[in-house]
Parts: sequence; structure tokens; C-alpha cells
Amino acid sequence: MIRAVAVAMLATVLSAQEAEPVKPVRLPAPTVGSFSLDKALKERVSTRELGGPALDVKVISQLLWSAQGENRPNKRTVPSARAKYPLELYVVVVKSDTLAEGVYKYSPKDHSIMKVKDGGPDTILGPIKGMQPWIPKAPAVFIFSGVASRLGDGPAASDYTFWESGAAVQSLLLQVTANGLGATVASGVDLEAVRAAAGMGEDEKVSVLVPVGKPSKK
Ligand SMILES: Cc1cc2nc3c(=O)[nH]c(=O)nc-3n(C[C@H](O)[C@H](O)[C@H](O)COP(=O)(O)O)c2cc1C
Repeated sequence: MIRAVAVAMLATVLSAQEAEPVKPVRLPAPTVGSFSLDKALKERVSTRELGGPALDVKVISQLLWSAQGENRPNKRTVPSARAKYPLELYVVVVKSDTLAEGVYKYSPKDHSIMKVKDGGPDTILGPIKGMQPWIPKAPAVFIFSGVASRLGDGPAASDYTFWESGAAVQSLLLQVTANGLGATVASGVDLEAVRAAAGMGEDEKVSVLVPVGKPSKK
């Protein structure tokens, strides 16, 4: 009897946990510091030995804002063909003091992130066939995807989306450098498998991954 009651109570607690809606995480406002653009351009380099510690939410905020954030109402740090904004930006993180492990989707409009899936880089990206082994070892992996149909169905739609992704990635890389971190762009993996593993929509196409962390060697 006691056992049955305990099981029923546990089931209630678990279903209450499952039912709890996922809330967006408001990110700290981006700061505009004094690291020179020239210095960031001079120092940017691909780094593949990326270790911990986990990235603080302030750093995650600064990186997301650089790549796709709003720098004035309804417009972003990176240009967009006809201001249609086809890009979606995700970050897969290990647990930090300020953020739970998971796959997060960025919302430029209110500078927030929403957890869309449980699991860090190791569990989400590690099992993908042919995955480059250094990628899931990074404490944060940014994933750029695009919904080209937002630019209509003309032949330029996917070109423009990829073009925009390149601009956004370079902004991210320069901010990574300014924060004393390392990163490398990677697209030589099964990008469709990455899309599915990260729980993205079927209308999205992944262009690149950008693992970020503390460089083990400098
Ligand atoms: C579109 C693109 C895809 C890339 N894919 C990979 C990749 O899959 N794996 C990897 O280790 N590096 C990848 N790189 C990084 C390049 O190897 C690197 O940028 C190049 O060697 C020049 O070195 P640097 O970035 O240090 O200047 C990629 C770069 C670009 C622009």
C-alpha cells in the first residue's frame, strides 16, 4: 500500500516536471567594449583544440548578439537580403553555473534563448557518423541554419542564405577572438544529421557549425 502511494506520488511529480513549460532565458544586454577590430582581425585563427570551462551566459550573449543580434529596432548586426532574415542560430552547451546543458535557439527580437532539446555537444553531436572528433569536445557549438524560402522561391534564395551565414560567422569569429576564446568553422560533417539531432525544423538547412572554447594551445 505504502509502496503504491509512493509510486503514485512519484508519477505525479514526474508528470508535473514534464508538463512544466520551457521558459525563454533572457540574456544580459550586450556590451560594447574596447577590443579593437584591427586586433581581432589580426588574431583570428582556426583553433580545434577547444576545452572547458563552460561558457558563461554573458559570453554566450555577446557571441549570439554579434552573429545575429539586433543593433537597432528590427535590424541586425549582419546584413540580410531584403531584410528577410532567413538565418536561425542555435548553440549547444555543456552545463555552466549560469546555464543548463542543452540545445538553445536564439531569438534576436528579445535577445533571449529557448531550450529546444536536452543534451550537450557530446550527446547531440558525438554519435553522428563521421563527426570530426574535436567538434563535440568544445564546451559550446554554435549551429547556423537557414530557411531559404523566406527569400521566395527564386534561384538566389539559397545563395543569399549561405552568403548571409558567412557574414554572420565572421562576426561571431571576431567576437570569439575579442573574448580570448578559440573557434573553427566546420561544415565537413553530415549537416542533415546535425539538423535532425539538434531538433531543428525540416524546412531548415544547416550551413556550418562553429565550436567555441578555450584554446588548449595558443
Ligand atoms: C565553409 C568552411 C568550411 C570549413 N570546414 C571545416 C571542417 O569541416 N573542418 C575543419 O577542421 N576546418 C574547416 N574549415 C576551416 C578551414 O580549414 C580554415 O579556415 C583554413 O584552414 C584556414 O585557416 P584559418 O582559419 O586559421 O585562417 C572550414 C572553413 C570554411 C570557410
